[in-house]
Amino acid sequence: MEANNEKVIILDFGSQYAQLIARRIRENNVYCEIVSHKIAAQEIQKINPKGIILSGGPASVYVKNAPRCDERIATLGIPILGICYGMQLGCQMLGATVRPTPAREYGRTACTVNSESKLFKSLAKDDTVWMSHGDQVVELPAEFKSLAFTRNCPFAAVMHKEKIFYGVQFHPEVTHTPQGSQMIRNFLYEICGCTGDWKMHSYREKSIDDIRKQVGNERVVCGLSGGVDSAVTAALIHKAIGNHLSCIFVDNGLLRNYEADEVITTFKDTFTVDLHAIDARDRFLDKLKGVTDPEKKRKIIGHEFIEIFKEEAKKISQAKFLAQGTLYPDVIESIPAHGGPTVTIKSHHNVGGLPAELGFELVEPLRFLFKDEVRKMGEELGLPEELVWRHPFPGPGLAIRIIGEVTKPRLEILRNADRIVIEEIRTAGLYRSIAQCFAVLLPLSTVGVMGDERSYENVIAIRAVETTDFMTADWCRIPHEVLEITSNRIINEVKGVNRVVYDISTKPPSTIEWE
Ligand code: XMP
Repeated sequence: MEANNEKVIILDFGSQYAQLIARRIRENNVYCEIVSHKIAAQEIQKINPKGIILSGGPASVYVKNAPRCDERIATLGIPILGICYGMQLGCQMLGATVRPTPAREYGRTACTVNSESKLFKSLAKDDTVWMSHGDQVVELPAEFKSLAFTRNCPFAAVMHKEKIFYGVQFHPEVTHTPQGSQMIRNFLYEICGCTGDWKMHSYREKSIDDIRKQVGNERVVCGLSGGVDSAVTAALIHKAIGNHLSCIFVDNGLLRNYEADEVITTFKDTFTVDLHAIDARDRFLDKLKGVTDPEKKRKIIGHEFIEIFKEEAKKISQAKFLAQGTLYPDVIESIPAHGGPTVTIKSHHNVGGLPAELGFELVEPLRFLFKDEVRKMGEELGLPEELVWRHPFPGPGLAIRIIGEVTKPRLEILRNADRIVIEEIRTAGLYRSIAQCFAVLLPLSTVGVMGDERSYENVIAIRAVETTDFMTADWCRIPHEVLEITSNRIINEVKGVNRVVYDISTKPPSTIEWE
């Protein structure tokens, strides 16, 4: 079965928003991929996309060595939408002049539509757009038509009268351009003639097909971490090749409450996967004895995981492939926006950091999906809702949320406090709107009174953040009542804790984790 026949490609000129454009397109059920701006017109012809987007970028089109694209793309008859730098480049290629703007425009700007076009079909004439440019088109040949303007930008949007080329100086992909989403939809449906055949169900079928083709009759080994990506990878591969998949799950004793059990139940009992679950809790604790430095903890845990994985993988005879839950953002990062001569996409070997010496070939069935799409895929595959929507969890686990030495009793305290935090956040209906939330056990004791007695016990910090990229984050304004009940429950139910604090730091300058 051939899924997603329709494809749009984004030529990346180094825009910070290229991924965002891709997501906006996929949200409209049209599959799209980001490629290097150096792709040859011939290669585009082979891909046969329904549309081409020229992304923004930090350069100026009139400087030497500015990134350009194969000019023959304008002769392919494929609709093109240029955004910001992409607009300037496209217009310049078609005879317009681009110069520095006398008054630069950054941020929200009022924009007026002055002619009819398919791009602005059904849109209000006056609205706000998000600008971020120091250059702009200043002279437009007669073959062009101006579509919209702002106070300082006479050609905020244009179209070519013969070729199917549209350009917008602003950024329709960001939410600060309220009608941007509809503009992208218009480009896809009104201009490119897409029908929207990118659906997770058909993509699942295609992925299963691809895995079968790649793997044949060979055996695949997959490491399960308890997180979404590895779980979806395993479930998908299992659907494709059944008992030719062997999974390895290393219980390092640093997971949250019930997580290890849940992985084992889901994969061994529900999916009947050949699961090698290794109880390595003591082994990890032993290695972490006396260690307080966060980076040392990370190294020890990473190293130990690889050792155990290697030992176990050797026992699985004749395995040829290793499955990894690499996602599209990792893949995109390795696309040479300005450098590489080709559009080859390198593989990232960052998941679990398993060394090449293991000699496996890689299977990466999620390498074209964004995180939210992976979750949809997980739902399609029938994975439990709790697992599919789980917040990200760091590889070193609770070890980096226990500030100071990791011991069994301290793990117990943190695990119990963390369970209560998650329970209360779920009860309040906030779990899905928060990107990540958890408890941290601090390395200090404070004074309290419990009954008539003075106590001298541990402090738990609660961290809850909002973020989409995890590079920057804001603390969540959790209602006080929810914090109150969470704090009460932790102090009453978790032995050894007499104080709870809430972390109100943003990233930067703080990080999301405390270590
Ligand atoms: P920070 O603390 O750097 O966290 O703001 C950003 C995101 O990365 C996760 N994180 C890790 N994930 N191994 C991982 O697999 C690690 O050592 C690690 N440290 C932080 C963190 O949970 C957050 O989602």
